[in-house]
Order: sequence, then structure tokens, then C-alpha cells
Amino acid sequence: MPDTLTVTDNRTGQQYELAITSGTINASDLRRIKVSEDDFGLLSYDPAFSNTASCKSAVTYLDGDRGILRYRGYPIEQLAQHSTFLEVAYLLIHGELPNKVELTSWINNITHHTMLHEKGKKLMEGFHHNAHPMGMLVSSIGALSTFYPDAKMIDDYDTRMLQVYRLIAKVPTIASYAHRNSLGLPYVYPDNSLSYPGNFLNMMYRMAEPRYEPDPTLERALDVLFILHADHEQNCSTNAMRSVGSSRADPFVSCAGAAAALYGPLHGGANEAVLTMLNEIGSVKNVAKYIKRVKAGEMRLMGFGHRVYKNYDPRAKIIKETAYQVFEVTGKNPLIDIALELERIALEDDYFVERKLYPNVDFYSGIIYEALEFPTDIFTVLFAIPRTAGWVAQWMEMVGDETTRIARPRQIYTGPDERDFVPLEDRE
Ligand code: CMC
Repeated sequence: MPDTLTVTDNRTGQQYELAITSGTINASDLRRIKVSEDDFGLLSYDPAFSNTASCKSAVTYLDGDRGILRYRGYPIEQLAQHSTFLEVAYLLIHGELPNKVELTSWINNITHHTMLHEKGKKLMEGFHHNAHPMGMLVSSIGALSTFYPDAKMIDDYDTRMLQVYRLIAKVPTIASYAHRNSLGLPYVYPDNSLSYPGNFLNMMYRMAEPRYEPDPTLERALDVLFILHADHEQNCSTNAMRSVGSSRADPFVSCAGAAAALYGPLHGGANEAVLTMLNEIGSVKNVAKYIKRVKAGEMRLMGFGHRVYKNYDPRAKIIKETAYQVFEVTGKNPLIDIALELERIALEDDYFVERKLYPNVDFYSGIIYEALEFPTDIFTVLFAIPRTAGWVAQWMEMVGDETTRIARPRQIYTGPDERDFVPLEDRE
């Protein structure tokens, strides 16, 4: 049996054979389906990309029905248990786990680029004291483009890799400066003798002590959270990274576009929204009432539901376990009881069961972030730091793919037909 689809156009009675490759038809083949010679041909309508593959990618595998997530074939559970974020970032970008020499050189390259240009620091000082850290992050990542004009040379592999080092290295520095800017605290320079998450904690929290010593449990918990957030195939922000990058814009402005997409409450902004929601609920006894309001359509249960997962998000499972390790050091965050009760009621309720709504990555992450004393408005920034590795991995894959063309969807025009211009004095 050939892998084809036979379609009959009932408008004309014509039959067409469309090739099926990897369980997919090529949308451009639909253009052969016409009612007349001058017909443009059939289009598919899919405004939220619900059933459209926008690229071929070998980076991340996701099976939402079975709750499976793998980076380059490795199950997320194994990576979270045995790996580090920087090793995972290497894996995402290069496709294989590094050997010892490759890992040492990779870590050296990243740590060599953690400093922010002093003028970049000055730029950040210009933000208002109550500027949202995501706004500062988006603008400052975009501004990196002005410091590194070589980034435009996207056809050169070594130059591309240099921007990859810069982005992965500098985003935590920008993130911590955004935090310290809000508090009016002096910026802390990177300490490159610390691990990637350890140095981030140092830049966030160091005060007068000569050297910041991160708590090893908290440092590891943050590394695990970074691993879990590193990539998630073609989500809204990654699609933005690819879409902006497809115009051959440099990776800094493309990454700023991706970070902007992450900011929204339906995407990375959900972790902040979850904490706001848990605080609003306030107590376990109010949970049932809140669920009723969600079911009445007054609001959504933040941290629940996913476009692709129709099963428990495997990342949420690991984050829930990690939360208890963090609480052993920080003490229990009382919001966990509200979250557990919400999850319990929701998972038994027909509304959530029928719609296959399960906790997603954002449901428990905010509770850990709060236990680590991160302010709520920096939560989405904490998502952006590791996701930068995914964005650049996907961008590297896209730029290296000779078949890449500029992203340019079609539309269904719904406006008026041609009409003549009416001079202002003749308009009613
Ligand atoms: N609470 C209550 N009802 C919901 C929720 C929710 N969190 N999510 C979806 N629904 C309902 C929705 O009202 C709709 O019901 P009906 O069929 O009666 O109209 C049905 O479930 C399908 O929802 P949808 O909006 O068509 O689903 P979507 O795939 O377009 O949206 C989503 C996915 C993640 C935007 C959505 O589930 C949502 O808004 N969740 C809350 C925000 C959130 O937690 N976002 C983080 C996503 S995970 C991290 C990331 O990748 O960014």
C-alpha cells in the first residue's frame, strides 16, 4: 500500500493523491486542488498551529498523550536525575552528550562570557525601579545585538556558536541585574568558580560577604528546574525564535522575540499567575469554592492544562518531588497544601477529567521559587534562563537546515472587496 491520501473534491468531482511522509501531508500539495485554472488552490486553516508541523526537528520529542518528554532521545527523568543544566544545554545544541574534554571546554566557553558589557549594565540602570524583570530581560537581550554586530554573520558556524555561548552565559547575569535593579541593590559580578546555578544565586543574593556559598541542595534543585525547562519543542516562544530568526535576524533579537512570547500568562507567565492564584485562594478550605468559579468560566486554573499534554506533565511530577527536597532546607511553603488540594479535587472532577486538564510545569515550580525566596515577578525570568538553551538549539538547527525559508503564513482575507477612495469632505 503506498503512503498516500486520496481526496475527492466534491465541488468538481476530481480526485487527488497526496503523498504521506512521517504521518504528514505537505500542505503545499493542497494547492493542486482547484475549481478552475485561475483558482489559487486549497489552503489549510490552522491559526494556532493546532495540527500543523512548522518544521522538522531532532531536538526534543514529546508525546502528550503518554506524558513523555525526551531531549535528543534521553528521557527527562534520567537527565533530571543524573545530569546538569550545562551538560543538557550541550546535548540540546550538539545532539550528543559531551565527553569529559568536550564538557570542560563547553563550561569554560560559557563561563568566559558571563560578564555583561559595562554599557549594558548602564542601560539596565536606566530602567524604572518598578520595571517588570521580564520587560528588562526582553529589552536587554535585544540590546546585546548592539554590542555584538558580528552576530549578523549567521552563515558562519563559529560565529553562531559564539553567540550561543554569549546568550547562555549572559542571560542569568541580565536576570539577576533586573532583580537587583528593582531593589536598588548594586549589581554583583559573576563568580566563575561557581556552577551555573550557583553563580546565578550568587548574583541574585550576595550582599556584604566576601564570597557567596550556595546551599548545595538549593543549587541542585535550581539546576534540576533549569534542566526541566530547557526545551519543549515547538511552543509559542520557540516558534517566535524560529519565526524571527527565519528572516535571518541575529540570534539576540530573535531571542528577545522568544522571551517576549514567553512573558505572556498563557505561556511562561503562568508560574507567576499560579502563585497569585494560590495566594488569592489563601487557604485549603477555599479550594472547592475556587474550583466552582473556574468551572463556571470565571477564570482558568493557572498551571493546569496544556496544548499538547493530555496526561500528567512529566516535568510537574519531578518538580513536585524536588519541592520536598527544597522544603527540607527552607521549611515547608504553606502554599503547597493549597496546591495539593487543588490538584486532588481537579483530578477527580469531571470538568477537568473530560478536558484532560492536568498540572503542568508551572503548577509547582512557583512554590519552589518562592521557597528559594525569589520574588514572584522574577518567576518567568527563571523560566527564560534555561529556555534560552532550547531557543538557541532550535535556532542552530533551523539556520543549519538548507531548506529553511522565511516563515510567512497565509491568511483568509475577510475584509471588503475593492472600493474607491472617498475624499474626506465627501465622507458621512
Ligand atoms: N482551567 C480551566 N479550564 C481550562 C484550562 C484551565 N487551566 N485550560 C483549558 N481549559 C478548558 C477551556 O476552557 C476549554 O474548555 P471548553 O472546551 O469548555 O471551551 C478546554 O479546556 C480546552 O482549552 P483550550 O483553551 O482550547 O486549550 P489550549 O490548548 O488552547 O490552551 C493552555 C492550552 C495551556 C493555554 C490552557 O490550558 C491554559 O490557559 N492553561 C492555564 C495557563 C497555564 O497554565 N499555562 C502554562 C502552560 S505550560 C508552560 C508552557 O509551556 O508555557
